[in-house]
Amino acid sequence: MAVYNYKDDLTATVQELSHAYEELSLLYRMAGMFASLSIDDICSRMVDEAIDSIGVKTAAVLLLDEKTGVLHTKISRGAWDNTRTYSRDAEVFWKTIRTRKPSAFCRLAETPYRDDIPGVRSLLVCPIQGKGRTIGTIAVADKEGNQEFFSSDTKLLMAISSQAGLSVENAMLYAELEGLLLGAIRSLVKALEATSHWTAGHTERVTEYALAIGRVLNLEADMLEKLKISALLHDIGKIATPREILNKNDALSEQELIEIKKHPGVGAEILGEMVKFNEVILCIKYHHEHWNGKNGIFGLKYEEIPLLARILSVADTFDALTSDRPYRPRRNREEAIQEIRRCSGSQFDPSVVGAFIAWVSTTTLPHQAL
Ligand SMILES: [Fe+2]
Repeated sequence: MAVYNYKDDLTATVQELSHAYEELSLLYRMAGMFASLSIDDICSRMVDEAIDSIGVKTAAVLLLDEKTGVLHTKISRGAWDNTRTYSRDAEVFWKTIRTRKPSAFCRLAETPYRDDIPGVRSLLVCPIQGKGRTIGTIAVADKEGNQEFFSSDTKLLMAISSQAGLSVENAMLYAELEGLLLGAIRSLVKALEATSHWTAGHTERVTEYALAIGRVLNLEADMLEKLKISALLHDIGKIATPREILNKNDALSEQELIEIKKHPGVGAEILGEMVKFNEVILCIKYHHEHWNGKNGIFGLKYEEIPLLARILSVADTFDALTSDRPYRPRRNREEAIQEIRRCSGSQFDPSVVGAFIAWVSTTTLPHQAL
């Protein structure tokens, strides 16, 4: 049987993934120290803080899209048109971006900028600075009691924007990196799925199920991220499994089963060069272990099996049971749940099965007509 030379082909991709993942892990560690990595979270906190401390009716964070050179609203409160974007001729914002200084307009209607933000009486705009560049602006409008903006208001708004600037920039960088990493992983998985008749969509479904179980188990955001990457890559070792075995229309022989059972180890080997990927590698390596230590591939049992692998095992099995195979039809949803329940305590960790049941009983699965 021809064996695909996966090592040469994958080395470069794995190395690229490794770099992206290292940067991502660093951002996670930094975020743990300082703040959230969600842009929406940070911007929401900025506008809430501005409304409370300055006493305005309206506040908005506008971020600069570097590709188009246009400012768009990320988060707003009060009477603000979120759909409106601002190009370079909207001087009311761009003056602040160019000069990196705040601008205040007590009676906007009497300025040449009145058409930029219709309906606003007074406006205060501050730049949001990242590392050496302006990434957007925060704007507050219309103080309670129709008061004017004072220099103390400008100081408060500048304090809010300068505190949050680096966090917003980190969150933007994180979103970009995560997109790159997951994009690269998804391409790799698509290449794998394209070579097999029946695995199409399996990886995305297993990822969805595993994350749902992880959320019920209250996993931290960084563990959920590792679970997502592990689930997307869990069968990557099948790249070394002969195609005629993967695409066989009958039940597998003993020898073919031995061949298939190599894929978790091969997957771990492929990703082995990614030092920082350790938890992902262990999850992939042990995703076919059985909770009681019997009938697994490496003979690990109970908590020796990493939690992420125990979650992946249930998610993977549920999708396998509810998908057609050339040699057997799929089971319906209830039969599959029953089977998972039956194997709780033997093949599967009972606490993971509990979380799976809690999730699956409250969801409809769009992927299967069950
Ligand atoms: Fe697998």
